Amino acid sequence: MTPQTVRVELAAAGGCDRSYDIRVGQGILAEIGPQLAAHKVTRAVVIADAAVVAQHARIALESLHAAGLDTLVLEVASGEGSKAAGEAARLWGDLAEAAVDRKTHIVAVGGGVVGDLAGFVAATYVRGLAVWQVPTTLVAQVDSAIGGKTGINLPAGKNLVGCFWQPRGVFSDINSLATLPKREYLSGLAEVVKYGVIRDESFFAWLEEHRQAVAAADPAALHHIILTSSRHKAEVVSQDEHETSGLRAILNYGHTFAHAFESASGYGRFLHGEAVSLGMVAAARLACRLGRIDSELVDRQNRLLAELGLPTDVDSVARELATDELLAIMRRDKKAVSGQLRFVLPTRLGHVELVDGISAADVAAVLETTGLEATG
Ligand code: GLY
Repeated sequence: MTPQTVRVELAAAGGCDRSYDIRVGQGILAEIGPQLAAHKVTRAVVIADAAVVAQHARIALESLHAAGLDTLVLEVASGEGSKAAGEAARLWGDLAEAAVDRKTHIVAVGGGVVGDLAGFVAATYVRGLAVWQVPTTLVAQVDSAIGGKTGINLPAGKNLVGCFWQPRGVFSDINSLATLPKREYLSGLAEVVKYGVIRDESFFAWLEEHRQAVAAADPAALHHIILTSSRHKAEVVSQDEHETSGLRAILNYGHTFAHAFESASGYGRFLHGEAVSLGMVAAARLACRLGRIDSELVDRQNRLLAELGLPTDVDSVARELATDELLAIMRRDKKAVSGQLRFVLPTRLGHVELVDGISAADVAAVLETTGLEATG
């Protein structure tokens, strides 16, 4: 499989072309040094997940050194807990101590946590350092490393502080997925299935047909799913970079429920993709309750998620979490407007819409809870 390039087309700003390439393939990590050197970068700070420092970050570093760059490595502890204000402050301090200047580029190596955190630190330190994303998890390769969303969590909710800060480029090396724990790999498949549900019926059918190869992380299947997902993400981001037209919001299918499950359970219980899988189950159920889709489509989506090893038992999760807390978190979601609940809901396979004004009673009903009086 020859490495491929997906272009994220963005409007120029201040006379600068901000469009960038996503490179997808095996051995892409070795391209980092030559690519940065071609951009005349002489110093790079690699911010890496501690779990990948010895492997993937080392390959990136060797490539940067071979290309003549001066480097510094800053490690971040694995896990969602690192997406926090204290961790951003620590990294700002480390950058200050190393006398990092505006010509230094940041290279973020790891999953969504490191990508979001390092992107946020890059966006804010000395009012902005260039950042390159090197996603080493499936979730990051198919979603979070593309499109420039950066941020940290607050106890009140996920990603409540952050900004858009587009990377200069994305290097998605399929080889780095070989060391990913199985559970993390499978969790990334939720975002892949999402593209099928929201934009691409034939990709959904392809996933159904090749589910065994996909679940087994067969390299050819991986190449196809990462490339297809990257193309979808790039197209959406190109058309609605700052989520103003409502188009980019479709990428959040299942995420309003997912963020509430993650936040209410304290961020440690679910991997992000697992929460997204449960969120897609809840969102499809909500769409069915509102008469937008039939139960056949709900079952078809949920069957594929389950066959790919993803959690789908929303009822047992909902039984453990307080519905009023889940609703309160959803009202604070960035997609909410004036505290009104909004959800991305399918109307058919391959098409979703952003729907306003959904009642708390309908949301509570799909969570199959007892004891909640609907409040609006
Ligand atoms: N992960 C959703 C987005 O980037 O818009």
